[in-house]
Amino acid sequence: MIKKQAFDPSTKRVFAHRGMSQLAPENTLAAFHKVKESGVHWLETDLDLTADGQIVILHDESIDRTTDKKGAIHELTLAEVETADAGSWFGSEFTGQRIPTLPQLIDLINADGLNVNFELKPYLGGDERATTLIEGFAKELKRVSPQSQVIVSSFNATMLKQFKALSPDTPTAMLFKRTQSKQDWAAIATDTGSKIIHPDVRGLTRARVEKLKKAGFELNVWTVNSLKAAYHLFDWGVDGVFTDISHRFPEAYKRQ
Ligand code: G3P
Ligand code: MG
Repeated sequence: MIKKQAFDPSTKRVFAHRGMSQLAPENTLAAFHKVKESGVHWLETDLDLTADGQIVILHDESIDRTTDKKGAIHELTLAEVETADAGSWFGSEFTGQRIPTLPQLIDLINADGLNVNFELKPYLGGDERATTLIEGFAKELKRVSPQSQVIVSSFNATMLKQFKALSPDTPTAMLFKRTQSKQDWAAIATDTGSKIIHPDVRGLTRARVEKLKKAGFELNVWTVNSLKAAYHLFDWGVDGVFTDISHRFPEAYKRQ
């Protein structure tokens, strides 16, 4: 059992994973608008690049699961992507939602005063175009209002390092999967210039959390879809959780 005042909820971060993804289709403007409506301050989202070099918001490597069209994102032009309906799979009231572009998301972030974790997805179109993605992103990021806090994360250390070189003052976070549990997370994160680690909740132990916290890292854990699990992690010293149920957290967790 957790002791009642074991930690201060207002110091913990709750990230709406892919926007408010249980209330609206993930990674659409509808899902991002619901973040502020739900009183949550942080959203998490995923970035990728179209065939014609436009940065768009998409989790998967293809548009198959979350739209009515098919295709690998790096092989489709933005004009083709924009013909896809990204809402009707979730519910008829979301018909007409599109895969947003990065500039559209940044406009929304600025209008709603949100904080953001941008995840750079490992890019499948080749190293040269991965560089296009990173350079375009670093440039567009300058449009985010200074009032909004930003974290940039990736599973790909090379991409994270490349981004850090272009934007040294933006906090970066190294993502780790359960399958990487044998690796030295502190060393890998430090090599990318990151003071934040985003571990997979699966297989994470209290001892590892305490060791990384002692070493000075901020820890935000993905993807935590139960309040009970989140409270345990916070009790261990974890700073934040990525969750599909951020709307269900008590008000005390929505203050930063
Ligand atoms: O950024 C945390 C989490 O989103 C990483 O996993 O696959 O949901 O992007 P994924
Ligand atoms: Mg993600």
